[in-house]
Order: sequence, then C-alpha cells, then structure tokens
Amino acid sequence: MARITLRQLLDHAAERGYGVPAFNINNMEQGLAILEAARATDSPVILQVSRGARTYANDIMLAKIMEALELIYPEIPICIHQDHGNSVSTCLSAIQHGFTSVMMDGSLAEDAKTPTSYADNVAITREVARLAHMVGASIEGELGCLGSLETGAGDAEDGHGFEGRLDRSMLLTDPDEAERFVEETNVDALAVAIGTSHGAYKFARRPTSAVLAMDVIEKVHARLPHTHIVMHGSSSVPEEWQEVFNAHGGDMKETYGVPVDEIVRGIRHGVRKINIDTDLRLAAVAEFRRIAATQKSEFDPRKFLKPAMAAMTAVCRHRMEAFGTAGNASRIKVMAIAEMARRYASGDLAPSHGIACAA
Ligand code: G3H
Ligand code: 13P
Ligand code: ZN
Repeated sequence: MARITLRQLLDHAAERGYGVPAFNINNMEQGLAILEAARATDSPVILQVSRGARTYANDIMLAKIMEALELIYPEIPICIHQDHGNSVSTCLSAIQHGFTSVMMDGSLAEDAKTPTSYADNVAITREVARLAHMVGASIEGELGCLGSLETGAGDAEDGHGFEGRLDRSMLLTDPDEAERFVEETNVDALAVAIGTSHGAYKFARRPTSAVLAMDVIEKVHARLPHTHIVMHGSSSVPEEWQEVFNAHGGDMKETYGVPVDEIVRGIRHGVRKINIDTDLRLAAVAEFRRIAATQKSEFDPRKFLKPAMAAMTAVCRHRMEAFGTAGNASRIKVMAIAEMARRYASGDLAPSHGIACAA
C-alpha cells in the first residue's frame, strides 16, 4: 500500500527536478488507465477529485476505487487530492475519506464564482492548512484567478470559475503577494494564475507570452525557491485527438492548449504539479465517437471503454515521460501520513524545508 502525501511527493520531485501530472478521476476506467501508465513508466501519480466527481461517483465509491488501485498497483505511490475545495467542510470530508491532500481554492468564494479579497483568501487557506497539517495531510492554495488573458473571461462553464470579465491584475498572480501568502498560510503548494483556464477553449491561437505568462512562474520561483508551484488548466488539447473527435461527428472549434514544452520550461522554474483533466476527457470521448461511427452495430460498452482507456493511458505515459516523472516511483520510500503529522507539529515542515524522502 503506497498512499503518499502531496508534500512528500513534491519534495521528492523538487529534489530530483521533475514534475508530477495530477490527473482528474471520476471512475474506475480513468483510475485503471492512469495507473497502467504509471506502472509502465515507473511513475508516482496524483489522482485528483473535483467536487463534481464526488457528486457524480459518490465518496464511498471513490474511496473504494482508490483502495482497489492501491491493491492492484502496490508499487506505485498514489497521492489522492481534493481538486478546487471551496470550503473547510469540503476539505475535511475529503480527508475523512482517505485523501492525503486538499486544495483550498480561496481565490473564489464558496460559490466558486465570486473572486475574494486577499485577506479572505489568507484566512480560509490558513485555517484549512492548520487542520490538514494536524493529521498530516497536505494543502495547496491558489492566489490569482484562473482565466483567459485574451478575453478576461473565466471558465464558469465548468461550474467552477468567475463569471463576467476580470482585468489583467486579477488574472495574474502577483509575485510579492505570493511570497506573503505562502508565509501567512503555510501552504505546501501554490497554484498560480498565468492565463490558463479549464476546459478545451484556452487559447484562440498558438499561445505566446502575451497570453501564457510563464514569466510569472519564473518571478514567483525566484522569490519562493522552496515552494512547489502548481499549474492548473494545463491540458495541451492535442490536435491529433481534436481531429479524431471532429472526424467522427464531433464539433470542437479551433483551439489551442498549453504546449508541453512550456510546461517543461515551468518545471525548470519550480512547477511540480501539473493539472490535467481535459486531455483525458478528449482522448476518451474521441475514441467513443470513433467506435460509434465505425462499428455501428456495437452495443457492448466494454468495446467503447477499452480503446478509451488505451487512449488515456497513452496520453498519461506521454506526460509522465515529458515531465520527468518516469523512473521515480521506485525511488520513493513512502512516509506514513501520521509521521507527516508529527513533522508538521514539530515545525520541521515550514515551506522552506524539504524532507529527505528518496529511497
Ligand atoms: O477543475 C476543473 C476540473 O477539470 C474538474 O472539472 O468539476 O467538471 O469535474 P469538473
Ligand atoms: P484542464 O481543463 O486544462 O485539463 O485543467 C484541469 C485542472 O486544472 C483541474 O484542476
Ligand atoms: Zn484547476
């Protein structure tokens, strides 16, 4: 059994200079597909669960899926993370169900739509950090609002994100504020706003530095060299999968995601967790469409799901190799969450102190 905390995993990634993709999971098929890629490449994984996923699949079902994955893939360190927690209770109930890490997204209010003040973000994030650390769980905070620098719009169509338009200053994390935020909240990882957004429609053309502000990552890393940076909205929306989707009855308009090369550049400047949901959705549903269009008499769901799982595994493998995650699962000696709690209590795990965790 190898359930790892985000903090230990990202400290290991920082020591060895790699990034870890955090894949969203809603069901058994996604779990098996991601873990197959992890086994094939010897990669540790982060499985993250949105509030929507918890409602869709039921907390107990998800907890049992995670337990099953640990039994099937005992050699893989698995971090189970709450994605975009909106309240103290969302985060604590996730920990109750065995999550080893939570994101308290205090950049938005509990409605997951209204941008908050810096002071309100600090207050709720610090409280969740205090509670999570008591039991050894890790916490990710967010400063700045995810949204497009092209249009000023958020990604409210996913049910998470502000409505209307924001100006550039709210769409970019301020590096000075980031330094204060980490000090005041004691987060283990910091999600930054750099012009990415959730979903398939991130950029209308191949992104340049005007709309994908990688320089913000470099500035935050220069001020906070020991803080693990998180990139949200980091699907690359591969053109080859858009083509399969559109060639079989789909209707995805021209769109561009975050280039893998840019993420790799981010990893050189402190990015350790890279959030990916859309790429797996797109690859899986493109395969559903292909089977439906080419094998019209097929009605066994497994004939749709198996190619979809293979497609998701291929995307995961590619990212694990590109981000340098591959080859690291077997190098990690997982620390029990109770031991993490002891270290937080003794003050050993301030943001500027890594932990020795290589095997
Ligand atoms: O936070 C965004 C992720 O893509 C999760 O999306 O809320 O539709 O599960 P979801
Ligand atoms: P994508 O929509 O780019 O996959 O982003 C997912 C994400 O950030 C989940 O928190
Ligand atoms: Zn996100």
